[in-house]
Amino acid sequence: APTPFFDMYMRPHNYLRISLTEKCNFRCLYCMPAEGIPLKPSEKMLKNEEIFRLVKLFAKNGVDKVRLTGGEPTIRKDLVDIVDEISKTDGIKQVGLTTNGLILHRLLPNLVNAGLTKINISIDSLNREKFAKMTRRDGFEKVWRSITMAQDYFPKVKLNVVVLRNQNDNEILDFIKLTETQNLDIRFIEFMPFGGNEFKNSNFVGYNEMLSKIIEKYGNAIEKLDDSKNDTTKAYKIRGSVGQFGFITSMSNHFCNTCNRLRITADGNLKVCLHGNSEVSLRDRIRNGDSDEDLESVIQSAVNRKKAKHAEFRNGQFTKPPKSSNDFNRRVTT
Ligand code: GTP
Ligand code: 5AD
Ligand code: SF4
Repeated sequence: APTPFFDMYMRPHNYLRISLTEKCNFRCLYCMPAEGIPLKPSEKMLKNEEIFRLVKLFAKNGVDKVRLTGGEPTIRKDLVDIVDEISKTDGIKQVGLTTNGLILHRLLPNLVNAGLTKINISIDSLNREKFAKMTRRDGFEKVWRSITMAQDYFPKVKLNVVVLRNQNDNEILDFIKLTETQNLDIRFIEFMPFGGNEFKNSNFVGYNEMLSKIIEKYGNAIEKLDDSKNDTTKAYKIRGSVGQFGFITSMSNHFCNTCNRLRITADGNLKVCLHGNSEVSLRDRIRNGDSDEDLESVIQSAVNRKKAKHAEFRNGQFTKPPKSSNDFNRRVTT
């Protein structure tokens, strides 16, 4: 097997997340301002051929899992072709998609044919009005249709729920109830500061608080599941349930020590951490005619600069304040 890119902390990187666009057809409160974000000119975006070249190169260097993200990846007209080509790449075993689900139902059969193996869908509320308030768009029914359909195509469907105080924090038990009868993996995500989302401490709901609410109702019926090494999620289930749930605790308990991820932004920058603004343009290198070896050494140098961890948020405070925005980034690249 190929040797992966290792960082200074001996973490191997076998998982590449590629943002396909910064555009989105939602305006989630925790992600973007209502007016959206300034978009870069389209010639700055990676072209399919450039994406494929990078995927091949990363696969040659030990990446076996690719996840397509955004913005909203389904906005990219050629998404199915992209999945098709990536899934055919030597060494790539898993191709995932993280989507808001709005138009996913139209694409699912073709995506699965093209080789998509994993699907994560965001849904922050089970209530139509609340959903519209949080995404600033209508679309609950369509997203729900996508979720239902996805369950026919994939053995497991993960749902992402970003929990915000006084928005959807009263729906945690409703989501848990879904897992009793449906094979869903519901992940409650701690609100993170980025993308100009006006992070406020007062909107943050942490892992402990979420879990307490569930314990109050289910007590001993809650079962801790094993977490796999590189998982972002602390997994649980209610005994006897079909599905499971978990928590993505980026803020209160980061999982940086087992991080195996690298990211490419829609405009072709390599990011070695979700948080942090340190980026290097692979697009410029490609367009300047770099060889694969040149690119590999640029990537390795960036990986060498990857920090051990990012700041955490405990007891209502950052362990290190994100004042210079060094610790938390400004882009909509999840
Ligand atoms: P898989 O493990 O591949 O199923 O996906 P995932 O849970 O890592 O990714 P997904 O795109 O569904 O993202 C869920 C949440 O995890 C989002 O809020 C992401 O921003 C967050 N997340 C994903 N990767 C990282 C990471 O490297 N660091 C941190 N702190 N958060 C991450
Ligand atoms: N904090 C936590 N999660 C976020 N996501 C987007 N912005 C934030 C944020 N500020 C989530 C989306 C989606 C995933 C890719 O990232 O809900 O499920
Ligand atoms: Fe769009 Fe996802 Fe951001 Fe919501 S979180 S605005 S769906 S990119």
